[in-house]
Amino acid sequence: MEILFVNACVREESRTRELAELVLSKLDGNITEVNLEKENLQPLTRETLDYRSKLQANNDFTDEMIKYAWQFARADVIVVAAPYWDLSFPASLKTYIEHINVVGVTFAYKDDEPYGMCKGRKLIYVTTAGGEIYSDELGYGYIKMLCEKFYGIKETVYVKAEKLDLWGADVEGIMNKCKEEIRKLEL
Ligand SMILES: Cc1cc2nc3c(=O)[nH]c(=O)nc-3n(C[C@H](O)[C@H](O)[C@H](O)COP(=O)(O)O)c2cc1C
Repeated sequence: MEILFVNACVREESRTRELAELVLSKLDGNITEVNLEKENLQPLTRETLDYRSKLQANNDFTDEMIKYAWQFARADVIVVAAPYWDLSFPASLKTYIEHINVVGVTFAYKDDEPYGMCKGRKLIYVTTAGGEIYSDELGYGYIKMLCEKFYGIKETVYVKAEKLDLWGADVEGIMNKCKEEIRKLEL
């Protein structure tokens, strides 16, 4: 089984990554990590979008630029680790999405409707928040909709630990409770 670990964690002592690593330890297969901090992907610009559009128009999906999309499309299980930043997730994850949303690789269109081309059966989204997650829709919900409407990944699993930075928070207790929940997950 090919497992893709999309790591959008930034801090050295990231709690999101700690939880994601527990999720990964429950999965059996070959893990490939895309560490977004190290990849330093750039948002699409007029130039890079034009370049990619030309590749697509020529049905040329071999360019280095498309490698992230292929990697995502070919994974059996995907684990996304993203801290809760500014009510959603770090911009690096949105940039990554710009890079993997390639028509003809991760999804395509039929009768004006997108359909998925990804092999993945499951995506697990892991996040931790300093305060309360006001709306799951802005982080997890967004990724879940991409899975459903674009990628064709039917199952999404949500792992979250919140209120970690509140005054007097029992950080260890919150993390342990979440770890217990992860241990019980059927992945
Ligand atoms: C840039 C930045 C933005 C953040 N935005 C929010 C936020 O909108 N709401 C919230 O509850 N916590 C927010 N936090 C706190 C983090 O969600 C929290 O510390 C989280 O556990 C960090 O994950 P990590 O330990 O994996 O780095 C933010 C932290 C940073 C550094």
